[in-house]
Amino acid sequence: MLLFALFMILFSSASAYVLEEECLNYTVYPVQYELTLTPHIYKDGNSYYDCDIVITVIANGPNVNIIELDAKDLEIKRDSVQVWDGSVNLVNEYRPYEFDNTRGKLFIYLREPLQQYSVSRKQYFIKISFIKRVGLDSDGIFLTEYDEYGRPQYLFTTRLSPNKAKYFFPCFENPQFEAVFKFKVYVATPQPNLQYCNTSLVIAEEQKRQSSSSSYTIIEYMPSPQVALYQVGFHHSNFGSRQNTARKTNDTLVIWAPGSSLKHYDFILLYGETIINLLHEYAGVNRPLVNGPINIVAVPKLIHGYETGSWNLLTNSDTKLSYINEFTSIKQMEQMKFELAQQLSRIWLGNPGEVQRTRWKEEWFKEGVAGYLAYYLLTQYNDGTVSYNQRLPIDMYGLEMKHKAMAVDWAHSAPALASFNRTLAIEIPTRYKELVTMKTASLLWMVENWLGPEKFHQALVNYINSRRGQYISLIDFMASLDQDTVECFHQFFNGSTSSRVLNSWFHQSGYPVVNVLVLRDRTPNAVQLKQVKFSFIEKDGHDSNYLIPISYIVQHNQNCYNCFQPRFTIGSQTYTFGENLNGGWIILNRNASGYYRVNYDEDTWRLIAKALQEDHTSINELNRAQIANDVLALYAAGSLREDIALGVLEYLNKEISHVVWDAVISGFHSLKTEGVKMTRASYEEWKQFMRTKISTIYKRLTVSPEQSSNIRLYRSAVVQFACDVAYQPCLQQMTQHYREHRNSNKRLNPDYRETCYFLALSSGKTDISGNLNRFELEDKMNAEHRLRLENKFLYRIPKGEPKPLPYMKSTTTTTTEIAVTSTPHVAGKGTTAFVSLLTILIALFKLMIFT
Ligand SMILES: *[C@@H]1O[C@H](CO)[C@@H](O)[C@H](O)[C@H]1NC(C)=O
Ligand SMILES: *[C@@H]1O[C@H](CO)[C@@H](O)[C@H](O)[C@H]1NC(C)=O
Ligand SMILES: *[C@@H]1O[C@H](CO)[C@@H](O)[C@H](O)[C@H]1NC(C)=O
Ligand SMILES: *[C@@H]1O[C@H](CO)[C@@H](O)[C@H](O)[C@H]1NC(C)=O
Ligand SMILES: *[C@@H]1O[C@H](CO)[C@@H](O)[C@H](O)[C@H]1NC(C)=O
Ligand SMILES: *[C@@H]1O[C@H](CO)[C@@H](O)[C@H](O)[C@H]1NC(C)=O
Repeated sequence: MLLFALFMILFSSASAYVLEEECLNYTVYPVQYELTLTPHIYKDGNSYYDCDIVITVIANGPNVNIIELDAKDLEIKRDSVQVWDGSVNLVNEYRPYEFDNTRGKLFIYLREPLQQYSVSRKQYFIKISFIKRVGLDSDGIFLTEYDEYGRPQYLFTTRLSPNKAKYFFPCFENPQFEAVFKFKVYVATPQPNLQYCNTSLVIAEEQKRQSSSSSYTIIEYMPSPQVALYQVGFHHSNFGSRQNTARKTNDTLVIWAPGSSLKHYDFILLYGETIINLLHEYAGVNRPLVNGPINIVAVPKLIHGYETGSWNLLTNSDTKLSYINEFTSIKQMEQMKFELAQQLSRIWLGNPGEVQRTRWKEEWFKEGVAGYLAYYLLTQYNDGTVSYNQRLPIDMYGLEMKHKAMAVDWAHSAPALASFNRTLAIEIPTRYKELVTMKTASLLWMVENWLGPEKFHQALVNYINSRRGQYISLIDFMASLDQDTVECFHQFFNGSTSSRVLNSWFHQSGYPVVNVLVLRDRTPNAVQLKQVKFSFIEKDGHDSNYLIPISYIVQHNQNCYNCFQPRFTIGSQTYTFGENLNGGWIILNRNASGYYRVNYDEDTWRLIAKALQEDHTSINELNRAQIANDVLALYAAGSLREDIALGVLEYLNKEISHVVWDAVISGFHSLKTEGVKMTRASYEEWKQFMRTKISTIYKRLTVSPEQSSNIRLYRSAVVQFACDVAYQPCLQQMTQHYREHRNSNKRLNPDYRETCYFLALSSGKTDISGNLNRFELEDKMNAEHRLRLENKFLYRIPKGEPKPLPYMKSTTTTTTEIAVTSTPHVAGKGTTAFVSLLTILIALFKLMIFT
């Protein structure tokens, strides 16, 4: 009766997922899986489990004579395969089944065809018994070894995304199929040789527990909600746990880890609880995220992040969950904070275990919103000084996500976001996952800045709250956003709505650079804007047609109407407007939240460079960050002369802002983009230039005893960059640090560890000691990866000739001290060297022809 009801829900509700055309094609459809597992974890490594599985299926078409299941690396017990229609076994006795392990297929042959459900209302029960041997490197479900009190311990855990369920049990491997899962686990009582296990976790809560005979305790679990195979999970170990409950709801976070190490998980537990509290605060309603607890398992093995679809049984590497002061680097801590915030956001946005299930038609969009929310929550978390009442702007994270997306989004092969339309999140190719998350999040940030944060967040929250238990789709979201923000409509000259803006970016790949030309010979000055698609390798970008919300600031105009918020959008046409600049600069992309770059005429660049030299704080730090990043990227793309780029960046020795240096560092790495015309000589010159610029902030940070996580993060990034550009004091200090570590076993500062490994590896020391813990191992792997990329880059580019530019000479011969103290000299030189009237005229002329 229960099954029938379930089935009716599945097939009668018009909006059920399974009704989508492609699924109707499958002839056998699973309604429920019942798994009875008996794990045997042996210390000698011959671990396995016995499993009896009962799959309730219905036939979805006529004439089904063969049932095709997915199964791999399983040992099916002979004669165990049965298909029951009531009390009749339909399996063909002469040829019951065929198991093709290579293809991962199990075919069951029937004596007579199944009857179609729509005609017969009949359910069938497939029964199979099998053994699964589980090793350290098994797919889907694996054994993990770790050390506790000097003794090796073992556990089983699953990672079934995206399509590994067939290694766990025979199934119908289609990510669109959803079924109910009922688990029963036989836990062996303690025996010699057998690993003692008192913890079993599945995706449902325990229902009852009884001791059978003498050797087993039987745990039965409640039926799970309907889930896809990749959302199933199982964990078996002797882990202990700690838990915390949210302030406003019963949402409970439980961390599972070896009992002896539980204290290292207090940080993540408290952090996770805070994030849940922030989510409830954000939503404004006290609706629990999930029915029942959220279990997080710290797997003692390097694994890459959470499984996208997991909701109440999450697994991650223990290095992404535990915080150990001596070992966890600040970058690792930042990563663990981001990953958990992102996973909890995904859960909040919709999961199988919520009171009413919310589904997203476009899962790429959900991923993007979850990415955006993760950064938003991290901002409000504010390094533990939680901001519940006042919305803090995501500034620094905003730039981080934007620059991550921009580093890959320019390439020809980068797809438009909308082209992922119905792709499930687990099926988005790995190489595009970050693009999808970071670009969508950046575009939301752009719209936030356009509408104003209050209006934007209110619209987002109202929408999600109003669609609980329903479908969320992009079209519906856009319509609702427009409706909620309709009064903004009148603020724009030509009435671009949020949805039109977003759509123009969702349906095109890449991003533009806006070329700004100020015609200063008329009053008011005329400002011409023209967008072209940005590319690192094609010199003349193609015209593009993104709807760009334009915001700007000017140097000398107190009554600038457009200066506070973007008030108009531009399309593919050249757009000209009047604004009196009074001989000052204009800077586009205020607050840096626009997903585009800006290139100015040389005159304006010169004014910006001058302003930065004279008093860089006269330009807000987010804009300085964007300018620095743009300048490096535009130079790399061949759209900006080297002397201008160097002139704008000349002031950097005075720069102490974290967000600006992050932008410089990511901009500097764009010089190494594949296809960019660099030579080893010019790369060396850029490194040299950066060496003269990094010294001030390097000294300041390495001397400072400050240990707040923001400063640690900043310090770690600056030290890494300083060593990357071969800044001598950094090389000396880090080499010394590493030597002390090797000679006297002095522990490496975790924040410098990756840099030390990198230096050791690049000087040919490949013997970074064998006995590394996972935190160290992770850094070593990162260092190796970075070294490979750097070597590949150097190998790829030609040697080149050092340029005897007069301007370059002045910077290359300038020592650190002179660069800091000789501002007037450098600025004076800059003005004569890089602004010749002729070049400006030529540039103007070119631009005029172009537009
Ligand atoms: C559905 O069936 C048609 C015809 O049998 C086949 O061509 C198509 O590939 C099937 N689609 C799926 C998703 O299996
Ligand atoms: C299981 O046993 C371990 C080791 O004896 C202990 O630390 C842990 O707390 C136990 N877990 C549970 C759930 O009882
Ligand atoms: C929280 O759980 C307790 C006990 O499990 C229950 O009595 C209470 O009603 C729950 N509260 C909410 C808000 O769900
Ligand atoms: C997905 O997007 C592509 C390109 O935008 C389009 O051709 C295709 O029809 C879309 N598919 C669905 C199912 O909407
Ligand atoms: C207004 O929107 C259109 C796109 O619909 C665009 O082409 C145009 O440039 C926009 N801006 C202005 C200021 O006209
Ligand atoms: C933009 O920057 C200004 C400072 O120039 C700041 O006051 C404002 O809050 C920022 N806006 C947003 C949305 O971050």
